[in-house]
Amino acid sequence: MTTLKLPGLIDGHVHLREPGATHKEDYVTGTAAALAGGFTCVLDMPNNTPPITNAETLAAKQHLARSHARCDYGLHLGAGADNVQTAQALAPQVTGLKLYLDQTFGPLRLDDLASLVQHLERWPADRPVLCHAEGRTVAACILVAHLTGRQVHICHVSRQDEIELIRRAKEKGLNVTCEVTPHHFFLTDEFANTIGFGRSEVRPRLAQEADRQALRSNLEAIDCFATDHAPHTRAEKDAPNPPPGFPGLETALPLYLELVREGVISIEQLIDRVVYNPRRLFQLPDQPETWIEIDPDEDWIVRGSELQTRAKWTPFEGWTMRGRVRRVMLRGVEAYRAGEVLAPPGFGRDVRASAS
Ligand code: NCD
Ligand code: ZN
Repeated sequence: MTTLKLPGLIDGHVHLREPGATHKEDYVTGTAAALAGGFTCVLDMPNNTPPITNAETLAAKQHLARSHARCDYGLHLGAGADNVQTAQALAPQVTGLKLYLDQTFGPLRLDDLASLVQHLERWPADRPVLCHAEGRTVAACILVAHLTGRQVHICHVSRQDEIELIRRAKEKGLNVTCEVTPHHFFLTDEFANTIGFGRSEVRPRLAQEADRQALRSNLEAIDCFATDHAPHTRAEKDAPNPPPGFPGLETALPLYLELVREGVISIEQLIDRVVYNPRRLFQLPDQPETWIEIDPDEDWIVRGSELQTRAKWTPFEGWTMRGRVRRVMLRGVEAYRAGEVLAPPGFGRDVRASAS
């Protein structure tokens, strides 16, 4: 058995569903999934019920995360039409401001141009703004960010026209960063024929083979890899009107390593995208005495029923994955070993704790 030691992975985009939808996931199960997948820090999205858009909802979520999370975490704040000033005041306590500009799961949504401009104008220029933006909305975000003199991060880029536009904007020196998910690197719209419509529903939608290839050939324009871990129950996915989203924390690393084996990316470039770039972008503290040990050659078959996520399913059911996390050390403590999550609920720290 070979052992490869890597820094703890960072995922800038997860949905751990607490509060409001703990039948799908909560901090205890979601951060167990994170550790099992080799992630020692995850940044949690604000599309909860209720959405995290003000001091009250943020404080309630901070309290839940503090008592339940097993790995380190940060919270992103949600942008609404009426919280421009409130958001600005809460910036020190969160890892970013998330703007939902296109259709996805939950009611948190910004529809008008004026709100986009106001949020980008008022949110502190040295703190990250993250946009769910697809198609033409990507262009709108990049322009408004440029005009307001700030950075913008485009979440889960999935299409050729989007990644090429971002690459061109970067070449012009515009301050835009982006992330891509493992599922958009590996799956296309045809995959619905394999796992069915409901299970394959995700935002952004699975795209075409040309899009998948374009993501792979534009790696230098992709700053971060992020799972967009978005668990829903099997019953919800198999019912009429299935909610979009895939669990992804426990299958991400072997898929990222597959990109290395396929020659799409080097291991150093991978580590930049799953550790150093997200740490810099989201201004995360260093995690001392933190690393993961993986067996890069171990083959294992993915079984949803064996995963830590409460959703207990995966779009990659039955796939043979190569590369497995054996051990996770988090701040000097053994947090995971060989299938067992050892860090207790409450062990995880809020990366912005000193501000809240
Ligand atoms: C996410 C969810 O379920 O919260 N769903 C998804 O398909 N990605 C929302 C999101 O990230 O857009
Ligand atoms: Zn998401």
